[in-house]
Amino acid sequence: MTTSKKFDALLVSNPVNIRYLTGFWGANPEEREAYVLLFHNYVYLLTNALYLEQAKQLPKQLRIKNLELKVKGLSREKPLTAVLKELLGSQVKTLGFEETDLTVAELRKLEIKLPLLKPTPIRDRIETLRMFKRPDELANIKAAAKLTDQCFEYLLGKLKPGITETELAWEIESFFRKQGATSAFSPIVAFGKNSSLPHYSGSDLENVEGLTLSDTYLILLDFGARVNGYCADMTRVVFFGKPTNEQKQVYQTVLQAQFKALVLLETGERSGQILDQEVRNIIAQANLPTYPHSLGHSLGLAIHETPRLSIKQEVQLKPGMVLTIEPGVYLEHKFGIRIEDLVYINGENKLEILSQTPKELLSL
Ligand code: GLY
Ligand code: MN
Repeated sequence: MTTSKKFDALLVSNPVNIRYLTGFWGANPEEREAYVLLFHNYVYLLTNALYLEQAKQLPKQLRIKNLELKVKGLSREKPLTAVLKELLGSQVKTLGFEETDLTVAELRKLEIKLPLLKPTPIRDRIETLRMFKRPDELANIKAAAKLTDQCFEYLLGKLKPGITETELAWEIESFFRKQGATSAFSPIVAFGKNSSLPHYSGSDLENVEGLTLSDTYLILLDFGARVNGYCADMTRVVFFGKPTNEQKQVYQTVLQAQFKALVLLETGERSGQILDQEVRNIIAQANLPTYPHSLGHSLGLAIHETPRLSIKQEVQLKPGMVLTIEPGVYLEHKFGIRIEDLVYINGENKLEILSQTPKELLSL
């Protein structure tokens, strides 16, 4: 990792990037608890008194390039702009900032308080590094995927008439907590027609009105564990009672489409655009609507990371990437089916499927 010629130092404000670089994670990441100031040869973690002790216990070397990590306090009397003025001195003329993260107000403050500095918008600098998982990151993702499979097994035993979407979502959360993990994201538990909403949020714990399971429902479960900060993601649909012919046909089409993507990946296809297009073709050939999202995404410390597998933008998939493969069909006001696995392209450029939960149509 070097700061490019375009800037002399880089101010990292994105909390996930800060965690990736230093291991620092506060209590409310959206509240700007820390910044990282990256120079060519050393790095500062800037944080306030609430986190100073914690920050001083971090490894003294950055996780990339073994750069030395120093910690400096921020306070009301000595806010970010004052500390920057001190650390940047007169040599630093251009300061890179993360244009997808720093707010307009924060940028204005920098411009007003440091008028001689030229702030330079930077995009995806750290995110590009995050695309390729280190062995320790991969181990955490694999552990999260395994726990997600185990949670699915556990959930099958909880599917009884009368259970609500909300209660089932809580079973997911509590299962992970008891295993020393957490949920990677708010689980999606959608019964019956609610499954036609790809990101149904009715099973959110704040909503106690979720549907109650009865004989005729299909159940969409989209969830994942988070282990040491690293996410897993999996979606399965099971049928409580007998599926209709239409549900069976849609399920088999989605399964076939998902299988196609895995086979293409296994046989060396590495174009995200082609993969997404091939999968959409199978769904379209069955006269079904294609999905309003991408075929999949990478993940890591965040549930959605670069790259995405999409017809909209070409990406070449490479060894070291972890990806979801998650085609779906959503029939408005009726039902939706999505099948999602987590996969890894290993160092030999071979595909490893991390999600082990079976995908054959399951009718309980
Ligand atoms: N599993 C949620 C998502 O990928 O959007
Ligand atoms: Mn996903």
